[in-house]
Amino acid sequence: MPNKKSYKDIGKDLDNYYINKDKNIWRNKFHIEMPFGLLNDPNGLSYYDNKFHIFYQWNPFGCEHKTKHWCLVTTTNFVDFTRPKIVLKPEEWFDKDGCYSGCGLVKDDKLKLYYTGNVKGNNNERKSYQCVATYYKDGTIQKQGVIIGKQPEGYTAHFRDPYIFMNDNIYYMALGAQNNKLKGKVLIYRSKDSTEWNLLGELKTDMKDFGHMWECPNMVKISEDKYAFIFSPQGLEGKELKYQNIFQSGYVIGTLDLKELELKRHSEFKELDMGFDFYAPQIFEHDSENIMFGWVGLPDKGCEYPTSNYGWMYSLTIPRVLEYKNNILYQKPLKRIENLRQSQIVNIKNLSCNDYKLNLQSRYVEIMLNLEMDETDLIEVRFKFSDEYILLTCDKKAQIVTIDRSNMCLGGKGIRKFKLEIKDKLKLHMFIDSSIIEIYYQDGLEVTTLVYFPKEEQLEIEIKNDNEVKINELCIWNLRSVKYE
Ligand code: FRU
Repeated sequence: MPNKKSYKDIGKDLDNYYINKDKNIWRNKFHIEMPFGLLNDPNGLSYYDNKFHIFYQWNPFGCEHKTKHWCLVTTTNFVDFTRPKIVLKPEEWFDKDGCYSGCGLVKDDKLKLYYTGNVKGNNNERKSYQCVATYYKDGTIQKQGVIIGKQPEGYTAHFRDPYIFMNDNIYYMALGAQNNKLKGKVLIYRSKDSTEWNLLGELKTDMKDFGHMWECPNMVKISEDKYAFIFSPQGLEGKELKYQNIFQSGYVIGTLDLKELELKRHSEFKELDMGFDFYAPQIFEHDSENIMFGWVGLPDKGCEYPTSNYGWMYSLTIPRVLEYKNNILYQKPLKRIENLRQSQIVNIKNLSCNDYKLNLQSRYVEIMLNLEMDETDLIEVRFKFSDEYILLTCDKKAQIVTIDRSNMCLGGKGIRKFKLEIKDKLKLHMFIDSSIIEIYYQDGLEVTTLVYFPKEEQLEIEIKNDNEVKINELCIWNLRSVKYE
């Protein structure tokens, strides 16, 4: 076994990367990702010291799910970022096999980071410790250690991903868990001071048999009396129009009764993203907005990401604001993401044509497309990369959207299919990066995230119809690359 790189060398390699860059055509321009290693869940999301703090899971040593660190970038405008830096290293007895996911809490002018210390004992037996560390404005960090030493009776060691929320000036912590019958659950702890934690118990929901593990819980207040419980259940059976990825991420909305420890009258589970590559989202509040980042990736799907051949894997989504309307969470790109717009290259209103084709010089674009659908049954949008393409079909009659990746040579293939309400208008808001496409449908009613690995740089977009294509509005912007300095 070769020796692991030293932290000094990791620092040097990061610096070298940002000085020299690399020209790989799949390096994303505006999605947060790492020069090397494996990135996964967003962690500790906070607005602290007048900056957005975006932490995430990172294995700096390779593209395996091992030796997870917390890495950090900060920004104010989502264009200029600080260089990524490691803040939590798995080197104590309580986190030696991974500083797993968790959240941030700004308190007394400090940023407290709550995370799960993953420890493999003899015979590979798992132990999960809930831990806390304090991050200071000068960039230093101090681990305080374990705050919850073990899962309660009746639960397995799949016990992780602390998320703190406040209610009536009391702190609550939601923890992803699995009971001894191997069912996914969420446990709630309570604290007056965010230091001493007492178990309240398992949150009661109508989801009695809903997968074998609930990862990355979030409890988000979305109105005077409603909470969204957002989590990533593992082990749901795939259906024709939902649960098509190996694992899911989504939410239920209900009334949170913390006395009876129950999420009452909650809605049915709804997935947050119907694409191929989305998992483990985390939500934080800033300026009265609930902002979410997700991981563009999924556990156990590594073979679908050819960038691992070049030593790096996975990204974060762009930040999305969750808006509560009609018992649904609409997702909108954070307004500040408009800072990425470099120049507007298309601005069309009221155009009718048979087949709209557009050749784009750059593959880093934001596209807002609003189509008239009153006399239309079917729209096809084709993203063409020389002889490869991704096909998006919006079927108004069936109220179904299909995304087909099977005409790409490299990476994951197959289709994703989901229900979408389409009446007289179809609105698509798309963010295309070097190897990620995020599409927001009907003002964020649905979203799909996917990765793609074209052989050629150039992109052609074709919009076709069963009838005539009526474009109410089409705007396209070239987007800039974010900077890490
Ligand atoms: C979700 C997850 C979390 C865990 C982390 C480890 O992707 O499995 O449950 O804390 O990743 O990297």
